[in-house]
Amino acid sequence: MTRPKGIDSVLLRIIATVSVSMLTMFANAGVGEGQELYDSYCQICHGGLGEGQTMGKALTDTVANRLTDEELIAVITDGREGTGMTAWRSSFTETEIFDIAAYVRILQGRDGINLFDDKTVPSDGGEVLAGEQLFNGKAGCVTCHSYKDQGGNVGPELDGVFGRLGDRGLNRALLNPSASIVVGYEAKEIVQEDGTLIRGRYRNDTDLAVQIQSKDGRRWVTYFKDRVQSLVDSNESLMPDVYATLGAAEQEQLMTFLKSL
Ligand code: HEC
Ligand code: HEC
Repeated sequence: MTRPKGIDSVLLRIIATVSVSMLTMFANAGVGEGQELYDSYCQICHGGLGEGQTMGKALTDTVANRLTDEELIAVITDGREGTGMTAWRSSFTETEIFDIAAYVRILQGRDGINLFDDKTVPSDGGEVLAGEQLFNGKAGCVTCHSYKDQGGNVGPELDGVFGRLGDRGLNRALLNPSASIVVGYEAKEIVQEDGTLIRGRYRNDTDLAVQIQSKDGRRWVTYFKDRVQSLVDSNESLMPDVYATLGAAEQEQLMTFLKSL
């Protein structure tokens, strides 16, 4: 019996849809990729549930359970010389190896991999992260400052700022920006002929004209001195007093982050 044309492609489409939604489901569970790879490449020697087979040992026994997360990832990446356990480094990406290792943990009845428990991460790692989020989010520092080449250029780069300023200097820069203004970041104030006020960092100050940086830091606009109402040096910092408006816990987080730069 021959099937009418078209059924095959309909079937294919159904199969495709089902596998895609299964993949999505697994991806959401966070272990799907690891499980698929494990079933395809490891099961043959270690068994579908990690119970072990002739060619490979159990992954659920005390010995395997005692491996740290790092050791587990290392065994899969580098293999065990002189045994059937070959190195998988060239077969998988780091992420895939991580996912497989996480699935081995699940087979062991554990929560997966948590490399952030690693002692090499400083214990205030959470504070640094929270501070970085404030810096790039709510506190808006990133619009004017950069670190690691990311961010704005209205204010100085903040890499190594703690080493440069120390505790007292950093506190003063944050709590009272105008108390001492970083050389090269002084501001000028211009009142234009129509009365609008421009304030910003300046450069190329000559008898004829001066250039003022736009608020977003991207452009330098030229103002001719004979075409403005007034032009004066500003003794106030361009840096707003945002820091003082943050709560004590947030100030602490931001400070911890700045010290980590
Ligand atoms: C050809 C069979 C084979 C395959 C395929 C294989 N392994 Fe192994 N594996 C072994 C053997 C044999 C050992 C025991 C090595 C030893 O004697 O230390 C082992 C050891 C291990 C160990 C260390 C266990 C312990 O208790 O120290 C882990 C973890 C492991 N394998 C994970 C995997 C994963 C994950 C995969 C799939 C990417 C995989 N293996 C694929 C054979 C295999
Ligand atoms: C509107 C732009 C702007 C914003 C927003 C801003 N700053 Fe600044 N910041 C500056 C400028 C300009 C300077 C240099 C002038 C000065 O010393 O006051 C500066 C100076 C600094 C200094 C001293 C740097 C040094 O090398 O001495 C630190 C530290 C600093 N800012 C941190 C921050 C933090 C943290 C935030 C977010 C809470 C922030 N700034 C928000 C513009 C800004």
